[in-house]
Amino acid sequence: MEVAGNTVLITGATSGIGRALAERFLAAGSKVIAVGRREALLHDLQAHHPGMVAHAADVASAEGRTALFGWVAENHPDCNVLVNNAGMQRWVTDLGEPEDWAATASEIETNLAAPIHLARLFLPMLRAAKGGAVVNVTSSLSFVPRVDIPVYCATKAALHSFTLSMRYLERRRALEGLPAAAVVEIAPPAVNTDLGGPGLHDHGVPLDAFADSVMRDLAAGRDTVFYGVSAKLAEAAGHGSSGFDRAFTSVNALGKEAPPAPAAAAAAAAAAAAAAAAAAAAVAVAAAAGAVKS
Ligand SMILES: NC(=O)c1ccc[n+]([C@@H]2O[C@H](COP(=O)([O-])OP(=O)(O)OC[C@H]3O[C@@H](n4cnc5c(N)ncnc54)[C@H](OP(=O)(O)O)[C@@H]3O)[C@@H](O)[C@H]2O)c1
Repeated sequence: MEVAGNTVLITGATSGIGRALAERFLAAGSKVIAVGRREALLHDLQAHHPGMVAHAADVASAEGRTALFGWVAENHPDCNVLVNNAGMQRWVTDLGEPEDWAATASEIETNLAAPIHLARLFLPMLRAAKGGAVVNVTSSLSFVPRVDIPVYCATKAALHSFTLSMRYLERRRALEGLPAAAVVEIAPPAVNTDLGGPGLHDHGVPLDAFADSVMRDLAAGRDTVFYGVSAKLAEAAGHGSSGFDRAFTSVNALGKEAPPAPAAAAAAAAAAAAAAAAAAAAVAVAAAAGAVKS
């Protein structure tokens, strides 16, 4: 994707990865709308980068997300890139311990409901714009969970899955000649930020080196951006490998050049069902003849 000449909205831009990407998109020549809840940090961002637009919003509620979209549509209708970066991470080592559901719900709302809802709100605007794109920040833990952050890992795995589907659906629109957005995934490894609380990610890779690499990969046109160990974890889980690609192609009945038209897909499904029935019949016949061993 182009990193210059866009109007990029970044959620969770008050700190960590979001702030690092906001600064780099601005330096690359894009207009940046930085979003977060902590107003003091939004003011700090603007003090350091007078060209940056900063806006306070809470993406953990449907009302907050709808209000954010309404504000952008009214004030920055040229917005063509949405970066779903806001996230939170809670350590939960005893899932049987009584806890107010609101704590878990807020993690799911922030990490999963928000990117899905914001993508659905923004897609028509992004599709209509030149270079429109949704960028979802998932995690290396989308592919292999770390068990003491179970809800976090589940939300990131789900966001990875949603991102694959959204990318495919947008590509299908493009093949049909309809306006479509690009869909990009950034899957960071542990990065040295305050995610989950100060000190919990001190072991992570340096933020600046990570963010510089992400910008290079985005500019190079990558639609899935890994760094460090995240590619290895994806590969270990079968994602991104020929095994996963084959399965994804099969599940979605993809052709080589284009997804099949609904009628062709139905015919292919009927042919597959007929072949399966024939195979089952052959097995039954063989079993009856005592030729099948368990
Ligand atoms: N650091 C890592 O090791 C790592 C690894 C893989 C993936 N990631 C992902 O990278 C993204 C950024 O995390 P980070 O490491 O940069 O941590 P961070 O410094 O804690 O940043 C999280 C950001 O999300 C924002 N946020 C949280 N809840 C929000 C809400 N309800 N509404 C609006 N904004 C909200 C925070 O801003 P306010 O508090 O101001 O609202 C903050 O700017 C997250 O999605 C995270 O899961 C991080």
